[in-house]
Amino acid sequence: MAHPPRIYLDNAATSFPKPERVYQVIDDYQRRLGTAAGRGATRAGAEVAARIDAVRRSIARLIGADNPSGVIFTLNGTDSLNLVLHGWLKPGEHVVTTRLEHNSVLRPLSDLAARGIESTAIAPRSDGRVAPDDFLNALRPTTALAVVTQASNVTGIIQPVEQIAAGCRERGVAGLVDAAQTAGCLPIDVEQLGCDFLAMPGHKGLLGPLGTGVLWIRPGREERLDAVRQGGTGTRSEQSSQPTTLPDKYESGNLNVPGIFGLGAGVEWVLERGVESIARHDAQLVERLIAGLSTLPAVEIIGPLSAPRVGLVSFRIPGLDPGEAAVILEESFGIECRAGLHCAATVHADLGTLDHGGTLRFSVGPFVTLEMIDRAVAAVAEMAAAFA
Ligand SMILES: Cc1ncc(COP(=O)(O)O)c(C=O)c1O
Repeated sequence: MAHPPRIYLDNAATSFPKPERVYQVIDDYQRRLGTAAGRGATRAGAEVAARIDAVRRSIARLIGADNPSGVIFTLNGTDSLNLVLHGWLKPGEHVVTTRLEHNSVLRPLSDLAARGIESTAIAPRSDGRVAPDDFLNALRPTTALAVVTQASNVTGIIQPVEQIAAGCRERGVAGLVDAAQTAGCLPIDVEQLGCDFLAMPGHKGLLGPLGTGVLWIRPGREERLDAVRQGGTGTRSEQSSQPTTLPDKYESGNLNVPGIFGLGAGVEWVLERGVESIARHDAQLVERLIAGLSTLPAVEIIGPLSAPRVGLVSFRIPGLDPGEAAVILEESFGIECRAGLHCAATVHADLGTLDHGGTLRFSVGPFVTLEMIDRAVAAVAEMAAAFA
């Protein structure tokens, strides 16, 4: 039997497809340039270096930053978060975070606990949002960092990061925002946000390829933020110690140039289309998805529906294992989604879904259409009816 046409609803994990220009620019780099950035005096090398700088400027523009050299290229969102968690915190210090975080925050914090860095994780209230007062009340004199996801990757609910960051700033505590589910999907202005660090995967809402990530660093924070890796930067090579200037301090070794070119093309596409327009598109799709799923008595949508969210919805069909349901959705209906704990077990523990194999998650993106959403809802209805 022929496979049904593919409907990709796992954009919260990584976006697919990418804008056509992302594929083209990677192909052009690989065939025509193929050289490293800043490691020689060739014409191709100079072009690569100039274009990488242009990508830094595009990303800075997207997030309202006026320091492109504070845009650091990393491997993924996890790498950006690790850079700050391991580079900023010292033994005896304390971190405040939330129970909504991904393992890319929780696991480094667990590792740091063994090195004398304590953390406190604040639970969200019944509306799915962490109350700024709850968060700020947990700050101690030893608190050196606040870490908050801008939107949960399980419930999609947007967190009051501006208020939390403002309170932290007043108390002299640095703020790290995990923008994994928001960069390229919601308008972000780092000045308005008031954070010190913004961690972003390059391969989700920024529409770059896998293997790309970004960390934005507020000017001056590099004085305290240690580099977790040292090595060649193509600059100050006579010096045996790591350069202290940006971006070199945190970019040792050859960059993922084809990936960064692809990321640049993705970000340009986002800037041209406009983040507000992408956010409206996602909101319309997710509204339709929630409306459709809400009509199905066998479906339980997970998490509160009242608060603003990004383009994802978690749900379950009681009695049907989410992993099994995801296989059926793909095999019978061509729908690709994510099942399980989404690397965020504490969220599931709080929502009561930990012992049920987590949830099914549908997540939209700029190339998802209303028609695809209607087909996905119809597929869930048919599957649920078969198991009723
Ligand atoms: C909230 C959140 N933080 C961090 C990450 C990690 O991003 P990456 O997969 O790029 O390492 C993810 C990825 O799913 C996420 O959803």
